[in-house]
Formats: sequence, structure tokens, C-alpha cells
Amino acid sequence: MKERIKQLLDEIKGLQAINRDDLESLRIKYLSKKGEITSLFNDFRTISNEQKKEIGQMLNDLKNTAQDKINELKSNLESKVSEENKLDLTRTPDPIELGSRHPLSIVKTEIADIFGRLGFVIAEGPEVEDDWHVFSALNFPPEHPARDMQDTFFITRDPDVLLRTHTSSVQTRIMTTQEPPIRVLCPGRVYRNEAISYRAHCFFHQVEGLYIDKNVSFADLKQALLYFAKEMFGEGTKIRLRPSYFPFTEPSAEMDISCNLCGGKGCPFCKGTGWVEILGCGMVDPNVLESCGIDSKVYSGYAFGMGIERITNLKYQVKDLRMFSENDVRFLNQFKSAY
Ligand code: DAH
Repeated sequence: MKERIKQLLDEIKGLQAINRDDLESLRIKYLSKKGEITSLFNDFRTISNEQKKEIGQMLNDLKNTAQDKINELKSNLESKVSEENKLDLTRTPDPIELGSRHPLSIVKTEIADIFGRLGFVIAEGPEVEDDWHVFSALNFPPEHPARDMQDTFFITRDPDVLLRTHTSSVQTRIMTTQEPPIRVLCPGRVYRNEAISYRAHCFFHQVEGLYIDKNVSFADLKQALLYFAKEMFGEGTKIRLRPSYFPFTEPSAEMDISCNLCGGKGCPFCKGTGWVEILGCGMVDPNVLESCGIDSKVYSGYAFGMGIERITNLKYQVKDLRMFSENDVRFLNQFKSAY
């Protein structure tokens, strides 16, 4: 019997319980009416009187040890449960949402990368400008409608302080502060006094390109723009240049690309023409070079400007311009995998 008691004592000291059921079955096994320790107490009645004192002591020890062990395991389990209760079980099982880049940033970066490969570096200028940098230096005649309050947000008049209506103002900033050769790409926000709708907004984004050096020709311009169109919209993309007018370029052109939705066959998006307009461009007008202090007999240059929203719409078919500034995560999340 002594042996059995020692054996049980060792066994009990090593007990483990991972949950309440486990613990309960241990209690039943050792301490219940039919448990092992209880049955030893029953056997105790049969042993000789001389042995009773010693074995009685041992049995009591065993019972107490078992009881203490069960209590210890119970309180361990309880503290584990209260630890678990500190967890926030209302949280979603999904990991924390990662943000995504704004589609306009994605496209701006892509445009900058493409022209970066042609040697263009980023240049920036202020959004709050004066009349000279936005209009006068760029050969806008005094009566030009763009100077009208209908189109331009003025902060003060006389002196005219205004929100730039195009990033061409950065051309002026660069030409008046840098010596040619100049090869810059100027992304930025511009402002126009337009009623907000799905197709117009009072602010939007443009990228301006400017290259000035000796012997820059229209062929260089066309080559750079063809490269851009193919990189941006795919190898099969075609371009066409239509004569146009901008005060700061002569000659001026607007560039279309073959419709990237129908591949040029004609669809509702390109209004059946197979072509969509993407930018304005031209050779920098000698008047502009001169007013910025660059000798137009030595240098020539080309410039181009495009709306980032327009390019983004072509790439991702965003139908409503307002989506770009509403910060709706259902819209923004769709651009997670891009760039
Ligand atoms: N600044 C023009 C606009 O806002 C876009 C533009 C056209 C920029 C022709 C240019 C250019 O540099 O050469 O509509």
C-alpha cells in the first residue's frame, strides 16, 4: 500500500490540465467517491493497527496534495481565461488594411518615369502665382479670356495674385532661373473657376514638359511624344498631331492617340472616331524665350502639357471626375495593385 501511495503522489505532482473538462476528469479520477484516493481510504480499514498511524499520515498527505494540485490547476486555468478576455474579440479577423496610392499619384509617377528615361527632371513651382508668370510671360494678350475672372481665381487684383490656371507657369519660373539646356517635367495642381460636375472641377492636375537647347526641332517633340504614348498606353498605340493654337507655342498642336478602348476601330468612348485627345504641345514661341531672358536666335525648345485626370481616365475608365477628390475608399481600394 505504501508503494501505491508513493506512486500516486508522484503521479499527482506531475498533473496538467488544458481545460475545465480535463480538470474535472482528474478530480473524478483521484478524489471522487469512486476515485483512487478514496478507494485507498477504504482499503485503509483492512490494514493492521501498527501500520495505521504511518499509513494514515501518508494517506492524508496524499489527499491534501491532490486537493492542492487540483486547486492550483483550477486557478491557472481561470487566470488564462481572464487573460483571453482582454483580447478584443470584436476586431475583424482580417489584418489591418493597407492604404493604396491615389490613382492620380500612380499615373503622375508613371508619366514622370517615362519622361525620366528621356532625361527629364522634375521641377515644381507655386500654386499661388502672379499674372506675369501665368499669362504675360507666356505671351497671353491682355484681352485673352483666360485672364478673365470667369476662368481664373484671383486672390487680389492690382497687383494680380491668382491661383495658377496651368502648370505652364512653371516653365516661366524655370526659364527665368536656369540656363539652357533645360529639360524639365512639372507636375502640379491647377485651378479654374468651373462649376463642379462629372466632367469639370475647380481644381485638377497637369504635367508640363519643357525642353530647351540648341537645335531642338518639332521632330524631337514628336519623337518624345510617340515614345510616351507607346510606353503609357501600349506598343500598338498610334499618335496624330492636329494644328492648334496656344499663345506660348508656335506652331502649336494637339495630340490624339488611337483610342485605347477600341484599338482605333471607333466606339462610344472615342465617339466613333478611333482617336482621343490627350495633350497640347508645340515649339516654344520665341517671344516667350525672349521675355524669360533666353536668346531665341541661339536656342529653341518644345513644350507640352497634359491633364493627369485625362490620362488616368483613359487608363482606368473613371467616369466621374469628382471621384478623384471624394476620398471614397471603395474607389481608392481598386487601385491597390497598381504601381
Ligand atoms: N497650358 C495648356 C493648358 O492648360 C496646356 C499646354 C498646351 C501646355 C500646349 C503646353 C503646350 O506646354 O505647349 O491647356
